[in-house]
Amino acid sequence: MATNKNYTLAGVMGWPVAHSRSPAIHNHWIQHYGQTGAYVLLPVQPDLLPDAVRGLRALGFAGCNLTIPHKVAAMSLVDRIDPLARRIGAINTIVVEKDGALSGYNTDAFGYIQSLLDAQPNWRADAGPVTVLGAGGASRAVIVALAERGAKEIRLCNRSGDKAQALAQEFGAPVQAVPWEQRHEALADVALLVNTTSLGMKGQEPLDLSLERMPAHALVSDIIYVPLETPLLAAARQRGNPTVNGLGMLLNQARPAFAHWFGVMPEITPELRRLIEATL
Ligand code: ATR
Repeated sequence: MATNKNYTLAGVMGWPVAHSRSPAIHNHWIQHYGQTGAYVLLPVQPDLLPDAVRGLRALGFAGCNLTIPHKVAAMSLVDRIDPLARRIGAINTIVVEKDGALSGYNTDAFGYIQSLLDAQPNWRADAGPVTVLGAGGASRAVIVALAERGAKEIRLCNRSGDKAQALAQEFGAPVQAVPWEQRHEALADVALLVNTTSLGMKGQEPLDLSLERMPAHALVSDIIYVPLETPLLAAARQRGNPTVNGLGMLLNQARPAFAHWFGVMPEITPELRRLIEATL
């Protein structure tokens, strides 16, 4: 019963944050791995983020996750930023180190790649051209992840073309900006198509995209998880393409954060998947 283990506290700072699935994921693992502690919602107004981040150490937190709208602003509030997070330009995880220093990480890239590997263990980033739709915050993590894994050609299509061009310039080869109007043609010979736009999300319009030119073996991934099957994934599945929804990225991005705070790399069990799916 009684243990000598310290009570480990973590949480997620966001605004709003009430709908975050992170407490359900992390508290499941805390229980599953016999840890003593809790993972809580931390509604933090943007103007109070500096106070909240500085308060982590005083409150005895092991660290926290950051979600919308704090992922970029928090970068200037930590003492050290992991090189991958710096390339992405955002942090989603803070770790309070033993000496009290705050380290910033981004686990979204890991989460994205791992979600593809969970679906296709032999997946390779260099299997062929990749088309990425969207050039927002989520897109940056996906692009950096794919580039790090060796993708040779990343065609980036975004409604606002200047954003795609800016990202292509920042990340350099293999990222090339492709005009939004040419997104249908940009599917010719791809090995992977990724949707990082909000189109197809519950309450939003579906993505207007012709899959006609896309090879039947191309993997189609959507980082949206509400609904689990977006119109894009449904259309891809109907024509025989393998698909990956956004739940895997959500679950997998949580794993390295938990490992930092609790010292155990947690696994995604069918039970955890069902638990989170029931909340969607
Ligand atoms: P996230 O952090 O989830 O990436 P974001 O930074 O707001 O969110 O990015 C949203 C993405 O969805 C952007 O690429 C956006 O395109 P713009 O840069 O042109 O705004 C894309 N998006 C949102 N609504 C869209 C629409 N109706 N048509 C096309 N793209 C859209």
